[in-house]
Parts: sequence; C-alpha cells; structure tokens
Amino acid sequence: MVVYQVYPRSFQDSDGDGIGDLAGIRARLDHLAWLGVDALWLSPIYPSPMADFGYDVADYTDVDPVFGDLAEFDRLTEAARERGLELLMDLVPCHTSIEHPWFREHPDWYIWADRPNNWVAAFGGSAWEPRDGRYYLHSFYPEQPDLDWRNPEVVAAMQDVLRFWVERGAGGYRIDAIDRLMKDPELRDDPPASEPYGLPLGDHEVKLALSNSRNGPGTSAALAKMREAVGDAFLVGEVYLPSRRWQPYSDHFDAVFAFELLLTSWDATLLNTAIRACAETGKAAWAMSNHDFGRLATRFGRENARAAALMLLTLPGPAFLYQGDEIGQGDGPPWESTFDRAGRDRFRHPMQWDGSADGGFSTGEPWLPPVDPADRNVEAQRDDPGSMLSLVRELIALRRELGDGFELLEAADGVVAYRRGGHAVAVNTTPERRPFPVRGEPRLASAPDALQGDTLAPHAGVVVQD
Ligand code: GLC
Repeated sequence: MVVYQVYPRSFQDSDGDGIGDLAGIRARLDHLAWLGVDALWLSPIYPSPMADFGYDVADYTDVDPVFGDLAEFDRLTEAARERGLELLMDLVPCHTSIEHPWFREHPDWYIWADRPNNWVAAFGGSAWEPRDGRYYLHSFYPEQPDLDWRNPEVVAAMQDVLRFWVERGAGGYRIDAIDRLMKDPELRDDPPASEPYGLPLGDHEVKLALSNSRNGPGTSAALAKMREAVGDAFLVGEVYLPSRRWQPYSDHFDAVFAFELLLTSWDATLLNTAIRACAETGKAAWAMSNHDFGRLATRFGRENARAAALMLLTLPGPAFLYQGDEIGQGDGPPWESTFDRAGRDRFRHPMQWDGSADGGFSTGEPWLPPVDPADRNVEAQRDDPGSMLSLVRELIALRRELGDGFELLEAADGVVAYRRGGHAVAVNTTPERRPFPVRGEPRLASAPDALQGDTLAPHAGVVVQD
C-alpha cells in the first residue's frame, strides 16, 4: 500500500489560527483519494505542550484543542472510510510529556537513577535530568521522560491506548522510536563503539556502541503485548537500526522503516546496497523523507526528485509518501530552529495547495511561511500532465499492476534496476546517459525523453513491461 504522511500542523488550517487541524485534513481528503493512496498516517494529534510538536504526549486518548476534538476525529475517520482510506495513528510508547499526569501520579512508571550513566540524548547532552535528588531518563528532549516498560502497569496502560484508537476506527499505528523501548535493566554504561552502527549517528553518539541504552532485553515480549492489543491492525515500526538487526521488531510488526534507504545519498551503489538489504527482510516500509530528515526534492536534488519518486513507488512493500513530496516541495531555509531546537522546522513548512502567498494553507498567519507556493502547488500541477503531481499519481496507479516478485538486476555504473513480475524498473542516478539494462515496452517514465534509443537520460527513471 501507499501511505501518505500528514504532518497535521502543516497540512491544512480550517479556523484561521495559522496551524493545521483535523477539520482541515478532512477538507483535503479528496486530494488523497484523487492521488490514489491507500492510507494516511497522522503524526501525533494528542494533547501536548508541543515541546516536540506532539511527540511529547500529555494525554494518549484525546485530541489537542489546536487540532480539534474527539468528535472531529470521528468525522475524519468516517470521511476517510467513505473514501476507502485507512487512518494510521502515531503511537509514542517510549516516553510521555513531562506534563503527562502519569509523571506526577506514577513516578514509578518512569526510569530513574541515583546518578547518571553515560547515555546520551538523541539531540545531544546527557540523557539524564535531575529531579528531587534523583535523575530521570529522557532519550529525547528533557521534556520527554522515558517510560519504564518493565513495569506491568505501563504495559497495561499502553495496551489500553492501543485499543482505544483502533476501536475508534484507526487502521493501525506508526510506532515511534521503538528501538528505545527497552534498556539494560541495570542501566550500565554504553560501551565504546567497536564497529560502525550501520546508520548515521550524531557526533555525540558515534563513539558509543549504544548497546545498553536501547534494544534491550525484553523487547520481543513488549512488542508481543503491543501486537496482542491491536490484533491484526497494521503496525509499522520506526526502528533506528540497519535491516540486519530488525529482529525482533520485524517479527511483531507488519513493516519496519527502511532507514538505510531513507538516509542514503543518491548514488546507485549505495541505493543498491540499501535496497537489497532491506528488501531481503520482506518487511521493508520504504520512505525517502519525513518530518525529521527532510524532503525528497531537497535530499536527493531537484533534478533527481522525479526518478526518486519513481523508485519509491515501485519498490516491493508499503511506501510512505511525505505530504508535499508529490508536488516536489522543498525544505525551508537551511537552518531554522524557531520552534524545534533540533533544527527540524525546515522540514515542516505548510503544504502548498495553490499559488497564493499563504499557499491556500490558512486564512490567518501560517505558523511557518510556505516555501514557494507560486512555483509549486497542487492546483497548478493537477491539470498539468507533465507535473510531478501527475507523475506521482500515475505511479500509484501503475503500482497496482506490478508483480509481486522482486529481483535486483545487473546494470551499468550509476544505474539501479530491478524486476517486479512482468515489469522492470531502471533509474539513472548520474548526470550522463547510461545504457538501459532491459528490454520492454515503456509504461511510465520520469520525463518524456527519459528513454533515448537504448539509453536512459541523465537523472531519469523508466518502468517497462516485458
Ligand atoms: C521520532 C519522531 C521525532 C521525535 C522523536 C521523539 O523519531 O519521528 O519527530 O522527535 O521520535 O519522539
């Protein structure tokens, strides 16, 4: 399936406060239905002080007033169902907001130590914060204390949360930062790194093996409890590990985000390695962008955006498309931290629906300005058969015809090629022409002149049928 990631704050504002909301999402569902996606994933909508824009949850079973309320959520699920769209929620199981009542009422649901060990927080600094003569653990911001999943009350409370949204109509969850769920029960230091982690790390993390601060014993049992609560609802895990270490996550989840692909650069050798490793697991959820790592057109270069979309949407298994990538929206100015201290504001600028100054996002002052609505917007691209939006829509339609099988093919340097049943896909990552590795009838190309005789144009991708 194709899952469309909605960042609710930036999708569509309905009440003029400059911040997107659930009624706004509902008003734009026809865009998703027209695009042909199967599901939407909502980044967190729960009540939150917004220290991490909702990834700091203060109440797991309600909606933040800035986004709406439960009745509005029900209207949204109903409207999604009418259009055949599944709705995935974002579950944040590893930490709450420091303002969650649990932190006051059940301090024993959190992880405490008499003195800090050497664990580091995701965005830098010690993962420990002093409080009342002790220290609490926070794998992310200090406003996000880590829950103790070794406490059965925490497990039971989170199972209730998982059931709550599924019973209310959600089709499943994207599970946040799940590799941080279980830690070493003795809270021992992370030893020095003896081999590369297999994914990019921050300067503050790279010297550590990170073997005690995450992926600890008991992970499989905890994941089984999550699965037990949701039955066969769809679960996709945000597991920050290379695919060779996806177990036990891949045993309990339907899919795991392929960070090796998400974080690679646009280089055929690296892409081939990432795709081979992740595809072999049979559990890869493919994504090339999101609210943490930036947009496809910026990450891979505008000249490669179409071929990248072609690749994303022809790989085997669920594909995740970040809002705005369908029109080739780019990141905001290089470094912004007006709101997010980790500098991720630039990946979260509002959706560009039309060419007006506010991009059709809000009648008020948008919380962040749209980047370039006059150059790129849904309205203008919808009726243009040569637009990125039209390409993405055609790719989503063609995807249903691709066969089940998957095999990487030999190809010239700089080319990624694979077979999907009776179709083959080839993508040229270079600025030069390259031999086209297979024969067949062209079905869809990233550009009109992508296939020139037996060669593939620079930065182009093509799907052919045998
Ligand atoms: C995930 C989210 C990210 C958030 C973090 C902590 O990585 O995608 O936005 O900051 O978890 O919840």
